[in-house]
Parts: sequence; structure tokens; C-alpha cells
Amino acid sequence: MKSAVHDVIMRRRSVRAFDDRPIEAEVVDALLDAAANAPSGGNIQPVSVILVRDARARERLAAIVGRQPWVANAPLSMVFCLDFHRTKRWARLFEVDSSLEDAFQSFLIGYADVVCAAQNVVLVAEDLGLGSVYVGTIQSAIDDAREMLGTPQQVAPLLVLSLGYPKRIPTGIRKLGARAMAHEERYEDPDDDELREAFDTKYGAIDEDFERYLERAYVELVEAERQGEEAWPRVTRSRAKRLNVASNAQFLFELRYPSRALARGNRRIVESLGRAGFSMGLGDAGESDER
Ligand SMILES: Cc1cc2nc3c(=O)[nH]c(=O)nc-3n(C[C@H](O)[C@H](O)[C@H](O)COP(=O)(O)O)c2cc1C
Repeated sequence: MKSAVHDVIMRRRSVRAFDDRPIEAEVVDALLDAAANAPSGGNIQPVSVILVRDARARERLAAIVGRQPWVANAPLSMVFCLDFHRTKRWARLFEVDSSLEDAFQSFLIGYADVVCAAQNVVLVAEDLGLGSVYVGTIQSAIDDAREMLGTPQQVAPLLVLSLGYPKRIPTGIRKLGARAMAHEERYEDPDDDELREAFDTKYGAIDEDFERYLERAYVELVEAERQGEEAWPRVTRSRAKRLNVASNAQFLFELRYPSRALARGNRRIVESLGRAGFSMGLGDAGESDER
């Protein structure tokens, strides 16, 4: 089936190495139009996009998100924020209370709105010859990001998208086959062999040559080293050696995303959201620092 959008989707890869070439003003306008015209629950559009282009601000943002050098090197990072502040202020003009921040469902739908807007930008950027990469680690540094960006209460920076003209585009990134994700009418759990095969098709075997494996399984680490970041790649490499990684699953969930370490971040994120004025109806999520 021929589809121009499908072609864009299939050729897109996350790009982490950018040219210095600035992004033209009309291109930035087209990207913002794409964000503003995304689907949105109830068409409420609780989304703000902060453009970070200044060189020192880019450095600061890169540090905040955990020393990811492409954030400093990309000519533009868009910080996508969940924004109930604008809606609330507008409703107040008519003496109407809109406390979307008190409902967990509004948070879930609002975050989906944020992602819909961001992904529209990703696809238009790709179509216009730009590359982009999401940086989700801002979610572990919401307080610092809020301070840097001067966001008021009920605005939470939740996703960064760094963009620029690509210098290098990764090859060899593999995905689950579409049929491994699809179910007819009801959820169909595959048997162990089918499950193993779906993931084997995606990842292949762990290469004898660990460097080659990293190129496809942890392209961020290889790219970070190319861009002069030493600290976290070194720590990760020495942990990989210690663990003597023998399977893709071990690589993913013991080295890259150990679930216990991820769970340790829960409180910080919920408390940061609480300080940003999102109670989400979850009780004492953290003290709001009303500004
Ligand atoms: C929500 C989200 C958060 C992400 N966060 C990061 C990140 O912090 N750093 C990074 O380099 N890539 C990040 N990525 C990009 C993924 O690593 C990338 O999409 C994945 O490896 C698949 O590669 P592809 O985008 O080329 O298909 C993120 C992607 C998503 C969707």
C-alpha cells in the first residue's frame, strides 16, 4: 500500500548527531503548526512547547537530562510541557474553575496530548529533511527543568525533542514485527517459542563482538562517546563487563533499565509533579510551591 506518511514513518530513525546548520524560521513555523494541529482529548490542547536554541541554554538542558550531548549539539530542542495553567487562567477570566490538575485522568489524557503533538513534529521534521530524538529523562529532573524554563504552576516539562539536520543516521535499529503486536478481537498470548522468536527476530543474537552489538542495541552509548561524553558510557561498559551479559533481556533489564532502579525514581517524579501543582487527586503528592 502506497502512502507518503508510511514512507516517512518507515525511514525515520532517532538522530543524535546534528550539523551546525540552523533550522530556517519557516521550518520551525511548520513544526509548530504540526504540534498545534495534533489530536487532543476534548480539543482542550493543554500543551506548551518551549524552544531552546541559545547555546548556553542547550548546554544547561543537556546537563539536566543526564549529560546527553545531542541536546547541547542540536540547534533546537523543543521542550513539550503539559500545561493546565493556560486553560486555568482563561477559564478564570470567566469566573470558571478548571482544575484539570486534580484529576488523574486529565493527566493521562494530557500526557497523551503532549505525545501526539510531539510526534506530529517528529514526522513533519523527518519529511522536511531534519532528524530528531526524544529525550524522556527530563521526567527525572522536572524541578530543575521548571527552574531553567521559568514555567508557572500547572506546567510540567515532560518531553524534550532535539532537532537538527542529521550528520549521521543510525542503521540496524530493529523493531518487533507488526504481527507480534497485533491481536484479533481479544488478547492472544503467544507460546514461549513464538515469543522467543519475535524477540530473536528483533534483536538477533548477542554478538561475540560486543562493540558491534552496542552499535545496534545501545546506539546512544556509542554516539555519546563519539560526542565526547565519557562518564556514563564508562560506567555502563564496566557494569556490562561485570554482568557478563548473555541475553538481550539481561542487557535490557539488568543493565539498561533495571526495574528496581526505575522504581526508586517514583517518589521523585510524583513529588516533582506535586510541586508543579499537579495533585492528580492522589492526595499528598508533594508540597506545591505556588508562584
Ligand atoms: C518517550 C521516549 C523517550 C526517549 N528518551 C530518550 C532519551 O532520553 N535519550 C535518547 O537518546 N533517546 C531517547 N529516546 C529515543 C529511543 O531511544 C529510540 O526511539 C529507540 O531507540 C528506537 O529507535 P528509533 O527511534 O530510531 O526507532 C526516547 C524515545 C521515546 C519514545
